[in-house]
Amino acid sequence: LQHLLTIEGLPAATLRHILDTASSFLNVAEREVKKVPLLQGKAIFNLFFEPSTRTRTTFEIAAKKLSADVINLNVGASSTSKGETLLDTVDNLAAMQADMFIVRHSQSGAPHLIARHVAPHIHVVNAGDGRHAHPTQGLLDMFTIRHYKQDLTSLRVAIVGDMLHSRVARSQIHALTTLGVPEVRVIAPKTLIPACAERMGVQIYHDMAKGLKDVDVIIMLRLQNERMRGALLPSAQEYFKYYGLTTEKLALARPDAIVMHPGPMNRGVEIESSVADGVQSVILSQVTFGIAVRMAVMSILMGSGAGSKQ
Ligand code: CP
Repeated sequence: LQHLLTIEGLPAATLRHILDTASSFLNVAEREVKKVPLLQGKAIFNLFFEPSTRTRTTFEIAAKKLSADVINLNVGASSTSKGETLLDTVDNLAAMQADMFIVRHSQSGAPHLIARHVAPHIHVVNAGDGRHAHPTQGLLDMFTIRHYKQDLTSLRVAIVGDMLHSRVARSQIHALTTLGVPEVRVIAPKTLIPACAERMGVQIYHDMAKGLKDVDVIIMLRLQNERMRGALLPSAQEYFKYYGLTTEKLALARPDAIVMHPGPMNRGVEIESSVADGVQSVILSQVTFGIAVRMAVMSILMGSGAGSKQ
């Protein structure tokens, strides 16, 4: 791999290699991520053209744990506001000896554009583009599921909520199906399920009571209001009534089911606080594991040099 732009099309062996490498960076019992000198002298640029709390910060921590130098472009205070194009910005940062760009952008395909444009020694990681893909989130979610459930090939996983606008759901579904999870369900109103859902190999449910029955893993999604562009939305109260995860609805899943959420959460809209903070929630573990998974991605890309582009 030279770049990580999407999980779609990556072989299971590559996904497992990333997860196994992430394990090597993490002392799970202590929740401690090791500091290693693997990327000493490398310059990693965080280019976040959309807001982020978890992804931007954990990429920065991961790069520092790998002993790299990290530069966070303050997009709001950058010359993009004076009309500089994305690729001119990238060219100028490349001239500052960049080795890797971590890119989040509201436009699907922006990281691919950069990957096609940069010199072969520079690596690009997609940190979330439009509604298209969020590969490191998909990978850290697989790491979390594997940590709590070990064998993925016997699981029922339910993804609940706004799949239509969710890059996270797309990456999760590609990862889950590639890693052999036999039953992936999507539970959502008809208006929030994309036409491609069935082609992606998921089972579609509109009723939480049926969709949550006997699942091992529940992944809650937020309503992606910023990508809905004036669509007719249910009110938060209506949405919570039908699709919010409550203690009562959680009881429909297997008793040892785990509850996940990529964040940011909207409490009282897609998830009740008693569930988000409850014993079955692994939401904050996802965040910690994200550091190790991002370390794995960056070190593997840097170690592989200029191989085949996706
Ligand atoms: N899960 C996720 O992408 O969160 P942030 O938007 O805070 O990075």
